[in-house]
Amino acid sequence: MLIRGPADVNPSEITPYATYLNRRHFIGRSAMAAVAAAAVPGALVACGTDSASGQVQVGPGQDRDWSKTKSEIGEELTPYEDVTGYNNFYEFGTGKGDPSRNAGTLEPRPWSIAVEGHVANPAVYDLEDFIAPHRIEERVYRLRCVEAWSMVIPWRGFPLADLIRRVEPTSRARYLEFVTLLDPRQMPGQRRRILDWPYVEGLRLDEAMNPLTLLATGLYGRDLPNQNGAPLRLVVPWKYGFKSIKSIVKIRFLEEQPLNTWQQMLPSEYGFFANVNPEVDHPRWSQARERRLGEFRRRPTLMFNGYADQVASMYTGLDLTKYF
Ligand code: MTE
Repeated sequence: MLIRGPADVNPSEITPYATYLNRRHFIGRSAMAAVAAAAVPGALVACGTDSASGQVQVGPGQDRDWSKTKSEIGEELTPYEDVTGYNNFYEFGTGKGDPSRNAGTLEPRPWSIAVEGHVANPAVYDLEDFIAPHRIEERVYRLRCVEAWSMVIPWRGFPLADLIRRVEPTSRARYLEFVTLLDPRQMPGQRRRILDWPYVEGLRLDEAMNPLTLLATGLYGRDLPNQNGAPLRLVVPWKYGFKSIKSIVKIRFLEEQPLNTWQQMLPSEYGFFANVNPEVDHPRWSQARERRLGEFRRRPTLMFNGYADQVASMYTGLDLTKYF
């Protein structure tokens, strides 16, 4: 990510704690953050269908007593205001408070999503048609940012694997590439060449098929707020948050590994895999510990963000220091 501050420290370590907690006034010196998340066993809750109507969802979830979720997973949920007020979405600015201030120009309806490449059923879908066949679930994931802070977020969405089965990849499909909307009118940050727009991310097919990988349509029982990637984003809980690409308009099935935006920008710092790994430091700071937003004490970062049981086997034999 673009680091604007002193080059050798993690910005979250040098920001006074009170300022750090006050997202509205905290302009991140590092522009990169991550939602790395961890599915919490037992925290999966079916919640009916998502209308994708653009309206706040009225239904299971929104009127839930979220304090019960807390006791189900044994973890405090990060408050809604923090989840929606402290964001990385460069298309709306590089400060943590910029997306919530500026993302009103994004028009998440109507919206279409193209599925292209090595699939039996390529198509351009209206958002509603894209979502409708799927069973919407709610999942609480721990999110671990590359900047060494983390959140706990109740997402709403459906497994990416369900979509993949529906579009039927051919035997040539080995990777997926995801692309964000390119429209400087709706996304004014794209007028500045901070990144090579549009934002792109990628997964290996087996990672995309992993049951933890979610296409999210909402959080806290509501449709996604614009600043969180409306109307559709990826959530990959065992990876640093930059893999969680927002406001997706295209999914391509490829034979070759795609070049994701941050790897293209800074290949020595950001790789393709971006698995949460306390043993592989970022070149400029340690990844061994993290600060959960709202807490002062730092806790040890868990391998694969605590999801090793579900994902480690995908990386057997891979040198994780080389393929970071
Ligand atoms: N997707 C797009 N299109 N543009 C971005 O700048 N930032 C990434 C990811 N997805 C980003 C993006 C980063 S760095 C992080 S940490 C997460 O979104 C942040 O998600 P959140 O703001 O919902 O917590």
